[in-house]
Amino acid sequence: MENQPLLTPYQLGPISLANRVVMAPMTRSRADNPENAATDLIAEYYAQRAGAGLIISEGTQVSKQGVGYINTPGIYSEAQVQGWQKVTAAVHERQGKIFAQLWHVGRISHPDFHNGELPVAPSAINPNDKSFTPLGFKDTVTPRALETAEVQAIVQDFKNAAANAVKAGFDGVEIHSSNGYLLHQFFNATSNQRTDQYGGSIENRARILFEILDAFKEVIDLNRVGLRLNPSLNGVFGMTMDEETIPTFEYIVRRLNDYNLAYLHLSEPFAPVDHIPYAVSEIAKHFRPLYRGTLIINKGFNQETGNQIITDGLADLVAFGVPFISNPDLPERFAQSAELTNPDKDTFYTGGERGYVDYPALTEIETVR
Ligand SMILES: Cc1cc2nc3c(=O)[nH]c(=O)nc-3n(C[C@H](O)[C@H](O)[C@H](O)COP(=O)(O)O)c2cc1C
Repeated sequence: MENQPLLTPYQLGPISLANRVVMAPMTRSRADNPENAATDLIAEYYAQRAGAGLIISEGTQVSKQGVGYINTPGIYSEAQVQGWQKVTAAVHERQGKIFAQLWHVGRISHPDFHNGELPVAPSAINPNDKSFTPLGFKDTVTPRALETAEVQAIVQDFKNAAANAVKAGFDGVEIHSSNGYLLHQFFNATSNQRTDQYGGSIENRARILFEILDAFKEVIDLNRVGLRLNPSLNGVFGMTMDEETIPTFEYIVRRLNDYNLAYLHLSEPFAPVDHIPYAVSEIAKHFRPLYRGTLIINKGFNQETGNQIITDGLADLVAFGVPFISNPDLPERFAQSAELTNPDKDTFYTGGERGYVDYPALTEIETVR
């Protein structure tokens, strides 16, 4: 298939992308050292995938408090910055581009990560889901509601993480304001029942995000900052949609037009939402008209549908998650319309090389033949 939209270059603010195939952020739990720093193995994994127009790293916690899964890398200590430097150098050596996804899980964390202390959240409401702790899956707990000054300290943690990402050589950062984690917990009325300036109205529930963006201006050009939203997430991590959910995301997306960001990264619904009142089932279609900047779309795309959504003008770039796990050279496979390798789900989070850096590229498969 010639002239595929996915394989055409794209100018992302100051950054030239070789194609429009983005590697979606994916936690792989390989930072299995006391510092939770990225390792040589992690650098090898990302270097193998440097043919992506843009790699978005796995979620990397902005503070010790922000952690919620075992062996996820952080970006708040000097050792972690040095770990990430290996990753960015390896990707750049292969002419790739990479953003760091900045993450705080909020109430999805567990006391097991914090010497028995409670995880924090906008409000003391248990998501009634599971936490993936060092001792396996456990029921989530009722978190502690953040004091107002603590919310402002979290803004500073994100800012510090963005500054560290620049130091570590990342081309930019993506704010993880999606998938039921801390920032999403602020947006959603069912997880945010605060009465200070961070709760109540739509504007107040979105405030933390804009404070983070404003704080970033001191440490990184905003045309190197993207952010991720999953507007129709329902039934995951205690996220329940109500009549204000979509209007909240509409407010956020409209306001982002003032920020000249690198991109807005949207997810189509993770599960069917036709039966969910207040949900929007076609996210790109709904939000594209509201946003003037670069739009990345994700969830469930393949070569054909990825090319189609760009042709339809509903997205500029397409992020692929699972296909990149088992096809390190995904854009090359699209170029050749080659068959894709299926992933082994059992090794997504298990640590080590298996199911991580041992998926061959096409050229290696051909050599074996
Ligand atoms: C193993 C795995 C880990 C993930 N970790 C993250 C993450 O750290 N941050 C994030 O925003 N999304 C994460 N996701 C969601 C993906 O970015 C993506 O939205 C999802 O896989 C759907 O895209 P796909 O259909 O192309 O796989 C993860 C998904 C998988 C499969």
